[in-house]
Amino acid sequence: MLNTDFEPKILSFLCNWCSYAGADVAGISRFQYAPNVMSIRTMCSGRVDPVFVITAFLAGLDGVLVLGCHPGDCHYLTGNYYAEKKMKMTKRLLDIAGIHPERLRLDWVSASEGKRFVEIVTSFINKVKSIGLLKADGEDKSLRQRLQAVKATLQTEKVRWLVGNEIDLLEKGNVFGEKLSPDKFESLLNSTVYDEYIKNWIAILLEEQAMSVGEIAQATGLDPKIISSYLVDLEQSGAVLVHALEHRTPKYTRK
Ligand code: FES
Repeated sequence: MLNTDFEPKILSFLCNWCSYAGADVAGISRFQYAPNVMSIRTMCSGRVDPVFVITAFLAGLDGVLVLGCHPGDCHYLTGNYYAEKKMKMTKRLLDIAGIHPERLRLDWVSASEGKRFVEIVTSFINKVKSIGLLKADGEDKSLRQRLQAVKATLQTEKVRWLVGNEIDLLEKGNVFGEKLSPDKFESLLNSTVYDEYIKNWIAILLEEQAMSVGEIAQATGLDPKIISSYLVDLEQSGAVLVHALEHRTPKYTRK
């Protein structure tokens, strides 16, 4: 059911060569659409770093729309292909973090499709209305921390490398010429993204205060045994350390 009192704040990234012109055509044709959308023109949908998306959510936006050229029409040949991979992975991470993945949408609009532009914008606004307010710039500390963990995960070299090399890993193979099947790649990406997210989430919690395994388990809702194994990794990489012992229980902090 739509919350009609709520006017979502939406940010759109429009490719210069297609959807930006499509928005222009919508204006010239006097097609009506809600004024909820702020737009940023980019040279290609592939230029939209997933970090920009999360930064927008952290700044208080409720939804992010990325519009690029139709598949096969990208001026830089594969920009929209990479945009699709990146946004898919960002949605996956939002889902892991308990944030509705449909707050982010990637779609295609050509320079002549003013009507399609309006239809996509309108349906996206309605979708975000049905999901509700996000307000990550408000009082909800846990939401902010989870988004910060998503952002940090999107910046990790491992995750960026996997997303950027998907075609090569599937079609050309690794340095030994071994190709990954799409299923194997999916499961590798899923587990990498999940592990990196949890480690970043723990690190962000420890940045604010020293915590024991039990306290981290309580804050994250994860099993203490799982937390302990991630803490071992984080300690080994030098990201966290034992801050103090409280009643013989170690409290960890961010290094
Ligand atoms: S130039 Fe439009 S999506 Fe690449």
